[in-house]
Amino acid sequence: MQKERIKRIGICADHGGFELKGSIASFLIANHFEPVDFGAFKLDEADDYPDFVIPLAKAVAAAEVFRGIAICGSGVGACIAANKVSCVRAALINDNFSAHQGVEDDDMNLICLGGRVTGYASAEELVLSFLNAKFIGAERHIRRLRKIQDLERK
Ligand code: RB5
Repeated sequence: MQKERIKRIGICADHGGFELKGSIASFLIANHFEPVDFGAFKLDEADDYPDFVIPLAKAVAAAEVFRGIAICGSGVGACIAANKVSCVRAALINDNFSAHQGVEDDDMNLICLGGRVTGYASAEELVLSFLNAKFIGAERHIRRLRKIQDLERK
């Protein structure tokens, strides 16, 4: 049987998510994923989430990483920025159902979390649900995604 390759997971945070990023990166390693850190690399209360989220989102779109995790204070700004990059399907996730169903039905490839909103244990559960979920790819799912892709091409 072929051994599964360790999946590279892009991760980033501004100052609002900096601590949670460190804890999620360790959690990824403990769960046999390879975190790829897009910053911030130090806590700077004046940093701006687009500086980290956009490079991460581009790496997700280019399939340089399997999926992405973007964290800011609320997760809102990260989600807005990530979804500006074509082929990125990002969502701010606060519940377990959406963490896996967003992948299964909508092919979500980037999860956004709020470092000031979601506790460490919940964040770990959400991340694991997201990373272990698979896109079902039913005709209706593909049809819906195609409508979004059509908009991205315009
Ligand atoms: C930064 O203080 C904060 O506004 C940012 O982390 C995030 O919450 C934006 O959505």
